[in-house]
Amino acid sequence: MDKVLARGSGSAAARSRPRTAVVAMVAGAAVVAATIAVATSASAGTTLGASAAEQGRYFGTAVAVNKLSDSTYVGILNREFNMVTAENEMKWDATEPSRNQFNYTNGDRLVAHAQANGMRVRGHALLWHQQQPGWTGSLSGSALREAMLNHVTQVATHYRGKIYSWDVVNEAFDDGNNGARRNSNLQQTGGDWIEAAFRAARAADPGAKLCYNDYNTDNWSWAKTQGVYNMVRDFKSRGVPIDCVGFQSHFNSGSPYPSNYRTTLQNFAALGVDVQITELDIEGSGSSQATSYGNVTRDCLAVARCNGITVWGIRDTDSWRASGTPLLFDGSGNKKQAYTAVLNALNEGGTPPPTTAPPTSTPPTSAPPTSTPPTSEPPTTPP
Ligand code: XIL
Repeated sequence: MDKVLARGSGSAAARSRPRTAVVAMVAGAAVVAATIAVATSASAGTTLGASAAEQGRYFGTAVAVNKLSDSTYVGILNREFNMVTAENEMKWDATEPSRNQFNYTNGDRLVAHAQANGMRVRGHALLWHQQQPGWTGSLSGSALREAMLNHVTQVATHYRGKIYSWDVVNEAFDDGNNGARRNSNLQQTGGDWIEAAFRAARAADPGAKLCYNDYNTDNWSWAKTQGVYNMVRDFKSRGVPIDCVGFQSHFNSGSPYPSNYRTTLQNFAALGVDVQITELDIEGSGSSQATSYGNVTRDCLAVARCNGITVWGIRDTDSWRASGTPLLFDGSGNKKQAYTAVLNALNEGGTPPPTTAPPTSTPPTSAPPTSTPPTSEPPTTPP
């Protein structure tokens, strides 16, 4: 509460209109007190969602809509999570199987389940080089560009007002050492395709946070991370409407949790965007898996603009990488050591989120970056 008052008293409004400011501060204190009262409800500290909410964050999972008839699955989903992502049901092949003919049946089922159970929804994903419908294969150039932007507009309009954040563009960077864009059919429509997609999404749903989402962007020293960072910095400087960066964070022995993960989250957040962990799974077992899960959770909580964590499935057997047993519940739905590590880390607490909501409109183009961007060599110091 001290922090709220301190920030309020330093604002321009407080300096120019002291009486209004005092009233606003008292009202603000009441809201904070009410929020604390709500947060200390029966389940606080005992489930992932409630513990994350106490820290001003969410805890989510990918959901396969055809599993909503599995009672063990739904039992865990409804008990533990307050954010959901459609594992496949909102992708291009699912939502527009024929050109300009849209099918929202399964996506809508997930949104309905979320709304009925007090969960929010991350939209995933408007544009991606994978899981495109077959008909895009015969298009290129301006015809593909038009179809792609129409897809963004139609889907974001259908879900307008129901989506917390959209992965507008997924995995557009190359895995090599060049920090360059991936050479996809979308990229071939013109290098400005990503910003065109973000502008179309903003126009269709001004209330959703718009994210760029990718994998292998967790390690600050990797070229791919720097490539995405430079794109986001450029977008912010030119007023392209981007609000957040999603870190898929699929970790395994080839791409383990990096000790500079917190640095990566902090540096992106310093550009003036939120950061979200969007598809977390960590292959392994026992205490080493649990340690990495705890580290990821603490790193998110240490960064004020880290909104929350989504794991990519519920039970190990639900995972797209099931043989790596990368999730928080075993195949029978029992909590794993990794679950306890995450819950404990959430209950330890961290840096509260900013007290003012980030702007939903395009920021002024004249605003400078909020921190000095790194020079050519990224720092290698651990957090
Ligand atoms: C995966 C799903 O989990 C699988 O069911 C599907 O067969 C392929 O896609 N990055 C992403 C996700 O952005 O959409 C992917 O999900 C996993 C990698």
